Amino acid sequence: FHIPFPKNEPVLSYAPGSLERAQLKAELERQSNTTIEIPLIIGGKEIYTGRTGKIVMPHDHGHVLATYHKAGPEETKMAIEAALEAKKDWANMSWIDKASIFLKAAELLSTKYRHLVNAATMLGQGKNVYQAEIDAACESIDYLRYNPYFASLINQWEPVSSSDSFNRMDYRPLEGFVFAVSPFNFTAIALNLATAPALMGNVVVWKPASTAVLSNYYLMQLYKEAGLPDGVINFVPGSGPDISNVVFNDPYFAGLHFTGSTSTFDGFWKTIVEHMDTYKTYPRIVGETGGKDFVVAHPSADPKALITALIRGAFEYQGQKCSAASRAYIPQSLWKEIKQELVDQTESILMGDVRDFRNFVNAVIDEAAFDKIMGYIEKAKNSNVAKIIAGGQGDKTKGYFIRPTIIETQDPHFVTMEEEIFGPVLTVYVYEDNQYEEILQLCNETSPYGLTGSIFANDRKAINKAYEVLRFAAGNFYINDKPTGAVVGQQPFGGARRSGTNDKAGSPFNLLRWISPRTIKENF
Ligand code: SER
Repeated sequence: FHIPFPKNEPVLSYAPGSLERAQLKAELERQSNTTIEIPLIIGGKEIYTGRTGKIVMPHDHGHVLATYHKAGPEETKMAIEAALEAKKDWANMSWIDKASIFLKAAELLSTKYRHLVNAATMLGQGKNVYQAEIDAACESIDYLRYNPYFASLINQWEPVSSSDSFNRMDYRPLEGFVFAVSPFNFTAIALNLATAPALMGNVVVWKPASTAVLSNYYLMQLYKEAGLPDGVINFVPGSGPDISNVVFNDPYFAGLHFTGSTSTFDGFWKTIVEHMDTYKTYPRIVGETGGKDFVVAHPSADPKALITALIRGAFEYQGQKCSAASRAYIPQSLWKEIKQELVDQTESILMGDVRDFRNFVNAVIDEAAFDKIMGYIEKAKNSNVAKIIAGGQGDKTKGYFIRPTIIETQDPHFVTMEEEIFGPVLTVYVYEDNQYEEILQLCNETSPYGLTGSIFANDRKAINKAYEVLRFAAGNFYINDKPTGAVVGQQPFGGARRSGTNDKAGSPFNLLRWISPRTIKENF
């Protein structure tokens, strides 16, 4: 069987006068004027627990878009049971049938569900139209098309046989269920965390981020319409410990597919180790965590390209990407040339409501994020080795708005050069032109993370040097481009060190973690 090599989903422009713009605007209007109630979905059944939370618009936090019901320990147990029940059929269904379901989901998301999921991602997660389109629509569709293609390669690999024996592979799923825990910042990541293990024959208990429940609930509707059997993916929003304590105590816990903070992942890993005797099988632990992603410029860099990469890399989606550019090392000669332009462009960024498509940035996700980010900005304000050269203002009265902020520091170890902020804050360290190699070393040693990073240079030797010194500093390494915006099938995504297990979302490497093959030898 041959699944043709997929094409990436084209990004729609939503240009004034376009049909897609009119349709999306209508959907935004509709969702803005309704408040829906979101149940848990366990074994295909809707469960209303009566313990509820609210989904609000980050740019107008008085506006409630939805209430959602929260799972507790009891519902988590039900979800595990429903998953294991569904597994009896799902694990034995041919990979072709499973692939077909997800390929159908891709088609449905590209057409019928596109505006629904984009609008929910815009309103509930605070994305502008372009950020929603490249995430909730295109990246999601790409996972749903590329993963079945990769699965077809994996499922059809066979070992060598001889004239007196026949060798074959039985691509079993893991023996148990997979726990998917997804973040708020990418609807597509949430989709991949649950669907990649499912595609390989596993059943999933999925805990979405509380602030992304709206768009994520629509994904459940999408899977159902595409023909995913009940119980294969079970949707259990709620408070983390209520759910994870039950999951990690279950003998059939067989895998964790996680994207979120390093500290949460560390906590999960330690709990799993503590319960190791409980499990029937060694669980697969796959996680993508934090980043402190760098941009290093060499004196030979193109100034215009660098400015664009800094602004887009640091401020798109308010910097709430694990891949966001958050520390930059810029040589003095180039800094003189670009500083004013970088500041001017940053100050002129339009910020506001996601429904006004001119706004380049919107609000950060919630009050906790707002307070944390403003705390870092305050540290810069109070420091004598750092200066705010653009932005710095925050206002949470109506929405959680923070102006895109640039800090210039004379200390390469200033706190905002080292710690993950997850907000619209870029810190720049200016170095002497002749210290490029030392700066590469410094960049490599400054952060415990290893997710993404960029080198800007036209001098090939400088590029090669960066390539060599920064080998383990980034799992996604960009030459003359921003460090964000990996495309499924083109730049498999993930990093090592404290950024995760580097199992490369959007590649066969990730899917390999979700199978436990049996080798069969038959003698003649
Ligand atoms: N995959 C996203 C990016 O590359 C981050 O999660 O920006």
